[in-house]
Amino acid sequence: MSPTSNAPRTALVTGAGQARGIGAATAVHLGRSGVCVAVTDLVPPGDRAGKVLDGLEDTARRVRDAGGQAVVVPLDVTDLAQIEAAIDTTVSTFGGLDVLVNNAGTGLGVSPFAELSDELWQLSWSVNVMGAVRLSRAALPHLRAGRGAIVNVASTAGLGAEAGYGAYTVTKHAVVGLTRLLAAELGPQGIRVNAVAPGMIYTDLGAAELELMAARNEMSLEEATTAMVGGIPVGRMGTADEVAEAICWLAGPATYVSGAVVPVHGAASSGLTT
Ligand code: NAI
Repeated sequence: MSPTSNAPRTALVTGAGQARGIGAATAVHLGRSGVCVAVTDLVPPGDRAGKVLDGLEDTARRVRDAGGQAVVVPLDVTDLAQIEAAIDTTVSTFGGLDVLVNNAGTGLGVSPFAELSDELWQLSWSVNVMGAVRLSRAALPHLRAGRGAIVNVASTAGLGAEAGYGAYTVTKHAVVGLTRLLAAELGPQGIRVNAVAPGMIYTDLGAAELELMAARNEMSLEEATTAMVGGIPVGRMGTADEVAEAICWLAGPATYVSGAVVPVHGAASSGLTT
């Protein structure tokens, strides 16, 4: 199938195998707009592989139910060979690649600075930054003027700094920098590059953050949730669907938006900013 301007749009979403994650919600929202989606995630070796593959198949089924097409592709964003294979599979299955959503991320680098090991710095950098760098580079030859769009999933931790967020803060700042650099460089080629900066979103990662906050402050989970929600002006955590809405808008209808970092945080503070 050779790509034409009338062909359905195609997308690759990283980190899309968790049922309540932002990646899965984004894939389903794209499917609702008729987009063909490569649904990808890290498939670890060993016992957990089957569970992750089931999660990916479940996301793919939800994309199809929503009206889109889907293909499941295992993809560890720290593995260059897997990145190239995933892009090839997307292009050969759907005839092109229009939208790249760099959603995969790790929160393992959330820790006070003095306690962070080199290993956690390196893991955070490899997943959160180099994953998006390498995927964007591999996608570039396929992205077409007027249709091509990259959306990076940063964080409010990429807009400001709060004590205790460690390598997560630093790498999400880098994702914001990457977004602006690529927007400046790829604009003349008709490719838009934007990011979302989610605040507290109720996903597996968001739940883990709440547990960490509870443990650090010797609170119950309920007390930690109440304290955290108390700092959000809209008075609640966000949902993966609400972030997916913003991602899909940036990926499609927002035709004159590039280089933007859209906060999806219910007006919560981003911490220390310049
Ligand atoms: P999640 O844990 O459901 O999603 C993270 C995904 O990244 C998972 O599917 C995981 O398997 C994948 N991943 C991790 N390492 C990977 C690797 N090496 N290769 C490929 N995939 C890998 O959590 P959530 O919340 O949906 O996170 C999605 C994105 O949103 C992440 O980038 C996260 O940093 C960001 N975010 C989340 C917030 C929240 O409150 N939940 C707030 C701000 C940003």
